[in-house]
Amino acid sequence: MSLQTLLEQATNSPESGSAASSPFSTDSFDASVMSTYARFPLALERGAGCRVWDTQGREYLDFVAGIATCTLGHAHPAMVEAVNRQIQKLHHVSNLYYIPEQGELAQWIIEHSCADRVFFCNSGAEANEAAIKLARKYAHTVLEIDKPIILTAHASFHGRTLATITATGQAKYQKYFDPLVPGFHYVPYNDIGAIETAISELDEGDYRVAAILIEPLQGEGGVRPGDVEYFQKLRQICNETGILLIFDEVQVGMGRSGKLWGYEHLGVEPDIFTSAKGLGGGIPIGAMMSKKFCDVFQPGEHASTFGGNPFACGVALAVCQTLERENILQNVQDRGEQLRNGLSAIAAKYPHHFTEVRGWGLINGLELQADIQLTAADVVKAAINEGLLLVPAGPKVIRFVPPLIVTEAEVNTALQALEKALASLTV
Ligand SMILES: Cc1ncc(COP(=O)(O)O)c(C=O)c1O
Repeated sequence: MSLQTLLEQATNSPESGSAASSPFSTDSFDASVMSTYARFPLALERGAGCRVWDTQGREYLDFVAGIATCTLGHAHPAMVEAVNRQIQKLHHVSNLYYIPEQGELAQWIIEHSCADRVFFCNSGAEANEAAIKLARKYAHTVLEIDKPIILTAHASFHGRTLATITATGQAKYQKYFDPLVPGFHYVPYNDIGAIETAISELDEGDYRVAAILIEPLQGEGGVRPGDVEYFQKLRQICNETGILLIFDEVQVGMGRSGKLWGYEHLGVEPDIFTSAKGLGGGIPIGAMMSKKFCDVFQPGEHASTFGGNPFACGVALAVCQTLERENILQNVQDRGEQLRNGLSAIAAKYPHHFTEVRGWGLINGLELQADIQLTAADVVKAAINEGLLLVPAGPKVIRFVPPLIVTEAEVNTALQALEKALASLTV
């Protein structure tokens, strides 16, 4: 079934425009679900392509995509087919046995990246945990460092487990959760002098820098692309010192940047990198990739019950193959350029409100002036009223991360909705 047919069916289906079978109540939801999220008052129940519908039947253009996750949008025929096929065949078995779908997905990733080995898990945080563990074992057994230190960047984001909030260079994610995990040190992003200073100052007694964990483009930290020169110097330093270079590709990877991996924009390859979000197009899966030389794990040293099960890998493989077959990276580049041009035109109309449009492919940010009251959350709320879903990246950056299949017409519709939202806020 084509995406167009699916979209038409969804739009014309009997439920469209009507409430769900049991009316949704935010009160009973809030009484039963832990309040770890500040939610917008919107309950989504259906999607097709880049559109989603709420429980009242109202339609929205989805420029959030589960936060840079729904690579192929919603209810894509290739995913529907893969989910059906895999659930009927075999959905879960233990890693006590060989899992053919896991091997096929690993081979696809290896053929399409600089990686030699893959470990599968369920999320971005878990993939980064695996990378941290691998780097520590490598430090102890190969670099002979007793107390290895991992450098990470200010304004980074690496996940919500204890080790990954520690790796995350933002105090707001760490508050109340100390004692944090030892062995991390933070440096400013895109600042090579700071890296050089840290490496030399932290080399004391049993302590030494063993790895640098960094995003090729900082997503949550405000959609900030890495500098080519900085990353090339990082690579050089790591080559000279033996320090491992680890890239967190959880948000920017899997085609979102217009290239399959963010590091391709920077002209350097990591020793280890992680993926999640877009890899499964919305099915939970994470992966940690490494070069052969640093794959030091032995059986029993790392594991995950669900990691790499037939269901997640079968569906992720369908996502990867669809990306390639349909040449979706070209669409990401074209639509990304269209979106940035449109956002720049809007920003030019409001010079007192916006400072900059930046990003790669279909991960873009529109930054608000620091000294005005308006926040990214205000703009997101106004956009929801105009039928457009957006997400902040920090207090002052509005993030645009639509499905990678977004069309030219949909980008235009989103820009028009944003203009209306801004007009409603600035009048
Ligand atoms: C760069 C980056 N790393 C890691 C994570 C954590 O991923 P997850 O929420 O799947 O654990 C995120 C999530 O936003 C991310 O953007």
